[in-house]
Amino acid sequence: MTRAELLAAVRREALPRHVALIMDGNGRWAQRRGLPRREGHRQGVKAAERLVRFVAGERLVPCLSLFAFSTENWNRPQEEVQDLFDLLVRFIRERGDEFVEQGIRLRVLGAVEALPPSLQRAIADVEERSRRGDGLDLAVGINFGGRWSIVEGARRAMALARSDGLKPEDLNESAFARLLPTAELPEPDLIVRTGEEKRISNFYLWEAAYSELYFTSLLWPDFDEEALLAAIQDFQGRCRRFGRVPQ
Ligand code: IPE
Ligand code: IPE
Ligand code: MG
Repeated sequence: MTRAELLAAVRREALPRHVALIMDGNGRWAQRRGLPRREGHRQGVKAAERLVRFVAGERLVPCLSLFAFSTENWNRPQEEVQDLFDLLVRFIRERGDEFVEQGIRLRVLGAVEALPPSLQRAIADVEERSRRGDGLDLAVGINFGGRWSIVEGARRAMALARSDGLKPEDLNESAFARLLPTAELPEPDLIVRTGEEKRISNFYLWEAAYSELYFTSLLWPDFDEEALLAAIQDFQGRCRRFGRVPQ
């Protein structure tokens, strides 16, 4: 189907509130073309930029997450880690004005204090400038891990126990969810992973309890607007039961 046909076929009243994308396959995209992995990442950033523009422009979903760098990705060769950070600084700096104009609110999720200072500055600047954006919540996971996120929540709970006398019996699932770094985002309705692998790789864990999962063999640089619409169409055919019996 063409993009227009796909857009027309998507039921607006049943759109996910939060789509989370695990952007995998940049390296293989490059390798298949005899190019350095860096080139795959460069094309991957372009794919992300196109999608963000599309989702914001169409007001397709209120919240979009992009998993850009995991807590385990530090184990890659140092030059690749550096290339990824360079690309992320450029992505955030160069798209900053556009985010503000398009009403996109950027939030970076992850242990940012471990990132290079230039990247930390770019993040702080664009997060601040885009703070009032109400068109699209864009969450980008950089040095993010689902386990890191849960430990952050546990740390905050312990700090509250000390400062405010929070008691173990006061902590329940909804109170704990409010302490997580993702507290301000709706839980992802749909998690899409490109690049053939069928795993979460330490992305959202707590938040993914009832997410619908969609896997595509498309490599991330090839994942375009049509591919996203196809994923949403597939999502709209799912029967979400949340533990209940079907209606
Ligand atoms: C991008 O794809 C995901 C990141 C961690 C930046 P990869 O770099 O993992 O590509 P593959 O999986 O090696 O093909
Ligand atoms: C997942 O991709 C992490 C991101 C997309 C940021 P990886 O390429 O790091 O995942 P594994 O190593 O194949 O599980
Ligand atoms: Mg990979």
